[in-house]
Amino acid sequence: MSKEKKLLQSVRGTSDILPSEQPLFQKVNSVFADIAIACGFKEISLPIFEYSWLFQKGVGNTSDIVSKEMYYLRHKEGDLDIALRPEGTAGIVRSYYQHGMHTWSQPVRLFYGGPMFRHERPQKGRGRQFTQFGVESIGESDSSEDALVILLACQALSRLQIKPENYSVHINSIGCAQCRPKYIKKLSAYIKVHKDKLCEDCLVRSTTNPMRILDCKNKSCQTLMIGAPSHLDNLCDNCKNHFKSVLEYLEEAGIRFVINHRIVRGLDYYTGTVFEFIAEVGTMKGQALGAGGRYDNLVATYGRRKAPAVGFGIGIERVITMLKELKTVSLPPEKPQVFIIQLGNSAKKKAFSILQQLLASGIKTISSFSSDSLKAQLKMASKNNVRFAVIIGQRELLDKTVIIKDLQGGSQETVDLKQYLTILLERLK
Ligand code: HAM
Repeated sequence: MSKEKKLLQSVRGTSDILPSEQPLFQKVNSVFADIAIACGFKEISLPIFEYSWLFQKGVGNTSDIVSKEMYYLRHKEGDLDIALRPEGTAGIVRSYYQHGMHTWSQPVRLFYGGPMFRHERPQKGRGRQFTQFGVESIGESDSSEDALVILLACQALSRLQIKPENYSVHINSIGCAQCRPKYIKKLSAYIKVHKDKLCEDCLVRSTTNPMRILDCKNKSCQTLMIGAPSHLDNLCDNCKNHFKSVLEYLEEAGIRFVINHRIVRGLDYYTGTVFEFIAEVGTMKGQALGAGGRYDNLVATYGRRKAPAVGFGIGIERVITMLKELKTVSLPPEKPQVFIIQLGNSAKKKAFSILQQLLASGIKTISSFSSDSLKAQLKMASKNNVRFAVIIGQRELLDKTVIIKDLQGGSQETVDLKQYLTILLERLK
């Protein structure tokens, strides 16, 4: 491929969402948003770039997302680095404090959506620009809030006809500042004895972040970690009770889950409950449709007072891939209701004011002002499956009338220009 041709392609790992795909995107986003609103969450929109520090400090300098995948932006002002957001949680916490949301009634429940950016190796279900829908609840430490966000995601998936057998909820607790260091000590001791079986990445992780070895995809590491100590056996009483209570809420709501001590998450801010919604069918099988957990220390990480928090992020493209494969959601394209046919130059101008009136009355109206032939315009109307045509020609212009033609029934009537709108609205009912 010539360089010029290559430059005319979308950047590797990014893709266009074409008009034909928009209805599904909108559907998935609106289902998640509707359920979030029903659960008391309010929408927030954040910039797609932030100071890099926000992610380095919050998501963690040693996390893959920050150390390998973040897109830094060249910018002209000052000496502070900025980066395209790789995720939404850190930005939400920044906004929480910037706007004094700690003074609002707690918890502050927010939802957001939009593009995220990670320089990963592109493959099925993994893009360099992808879309997330996320919810974050800040200011509530009760276990019911963990269960609420999980319930919210399951409700949305179910409304999209993604059934409980199509995915599973994997859940774990990774403890708190009190019990985690003790667990890491035990885990490190286990890993030390088996260091020779670790992949190269995990050798590094064994010193920087040994818990990440638990979710390494390398076969040898996976086999080794089967025998590793489980965090769940090493939780302090607080974490144990909290986790038990989350599970009880989920059971009460009839949400099936798998307790998986190898869910540790790749972002540093998590404490206690962590979970992933893992696809069980199709080409997404084994990949997370979404994930989240508690991050009670993130706010304090930024040097502010503590505020407990929990949330999740859903990968919209992954959900859409699954929906396409399951073929459970069919979305008929939006149909225009009226086509305006104009014949002759003066009629064309009048037709334009009719278009304005129809649109102002909420009628979906299309037209083709550049074509002059009746045949071509009728053909276009029928191609678009339009129910009615409003026809105006030289004669109608003089008589101050228009023709309303029922393109499906075949009948037509000439009506007064003063009355056509009322008649049309009646016919469209
Ligand atoms: P995450 O696990 O990094 O968590 O991402 C959440 C979801 O985004 C994943 O489960 C996946 O569906 C989707 N995703 C991630 N990377 C890609 C990619 N390269 N291509 C396509 N989809 C992707 C977070 O981002 C946390 N902020 C979630 C959270 C919110 N935790 C608490 N609150």
